Amino acid sequence: MHQKITIHGTAFVTSFFRAGDVELSKDRYAYLWANPTVEEHAASYSAAVSTYEPYAHCLRNRYFYDKMVQLIEKESVEVLINFGCGFSMYPFIIEKDILFIEVDKKDVIAYKKARLTNWLKQGLLPSKYIHYLEADFNQPDLTHLLQAIQKIKGTKKSMILLEGVLFFLAAEDTYRLFDLFNSLQEKGDYVGSVSFTPHLEKEEVFGKLINFVESNLQKNHQFQYQTVPDTFYQNLDGYELLEHQDTLSLSQKYRPEKVLPKSEVLNEHMYLLMKNTDKQ
Ligand SMILES: C[S@@+](CC[C@H](N)C(=O)[O-])C[C@H]1O[C@@H](n2cnc3c(N)ncnc32)[C@H](O)[C@@H]1O
Repeated sequence: MHQKITIHGTAFVTSFFRAGDVELSKDRYAYLWANPTVEEHAASYSAAVSTYEPYAHCLRNRYFYDKMVQLIEKESVEVLINFGCGFSMYPFIIEKDILFIEVDKKDVIAYKKARLTNWLKQGLLPSKYIHYLEADFNQPDLTHLLQAIQKIKGTKKSMILLEGVLFFLAAEDTYRLFDLFNSLQEKGDYVGSVSFTPHLEKEEVFGKLINFVESNLQKNHQFQYQTVPDTFYQNLDGYELLEHQDTLSLSQKYRPEKVLPKSEVLNEHMYLLMKNTDKQ
C-alpha cells in the first residue's frame, strides 16, 4: 500500500508549487523544502486533480505577499500572524523587520523551527523576529493560544492569515477561529482568508479533488471537505469585507496573457477583511 499524505504533509506540496515559479510567487526560499517524496506527491496531486494547481498556489502567495507589503509600507500592519503557516516563508521574503507569529500543529512547528535554525546557521536565510506557537484548531478551547498571541502581539497592528487551512477544518472550528480573531484584533486590523465556495462542489474538478483525498490523504475525524459561502465573510461579526479575489481574477491581474480553461481550475477564493469595531 502506498503511504498516504498527512494533513500537515500538504504544506510541503504547497511549498513545492510555490518554488515552481518564483517570479510569480515571490517565494524564493520555497525550494528549501523540496525533496523527492514531496516532488512525487506534488506531481501525483497535480496530475490527478488539476495541472493548474502549481500556478494557482503561486498566484495566491503573490496576492497575499503584495497585500502584506503594501499594508506594512503604510504602517497599517506591525505583526503578521499566520494560522496554519505550514512551510510558507513570508517572514523571509518580506523585507521589513516586523514581528511574525507562526502557528501550526506541533509536528509542523517543531520541524519548521529545526530546519530554519539550520538554514539560518548556514546563512541561507536572513535573520527575522519570529515566534512559533503550537496549536490544534480542532480543539474546543483555544484560550491558551489567544493568551499566548496576546502576550507577544501587545497593542501592535496585526494581520492574520488563514491560507489553505479551512478545507481541512469543520464549521465549528471555523467559527471558533474567527471568534478568536475578533478577540485578538483591534479596529483597523486585517484578516486574509482562503477557502473554496460551495459552488465548486458541483464541478468535476472538485470531484477529482475528493477522489484524490479519499485515496491519498490521511484524514482526521473533523475533516469534511469544508467549503465556505461568500456570505460567511460578508456577514462576519466585527469585520468588513474589503476585497474578494479568486484564482481566475488573480490570473487576470498577474498574467493577463495566460489562457485558463475555467473548468480545469480548482478555483480558490481569497478574502481581505478589516476589523471595523472596537475590541470585544
Ligand atoms: C495546505 S497546508 C497550507 C500551509 C500554508 N498556509 C500555505 O499556504 O502554504 C495546510 C496547513 O494547515 C495546517 N492545519 C490543518 N489542520 C490544522 C489544525 N487542526 N490545527 C492547526 N493547523 C492545522 C496543516 O498542518 C498545514 O500546515
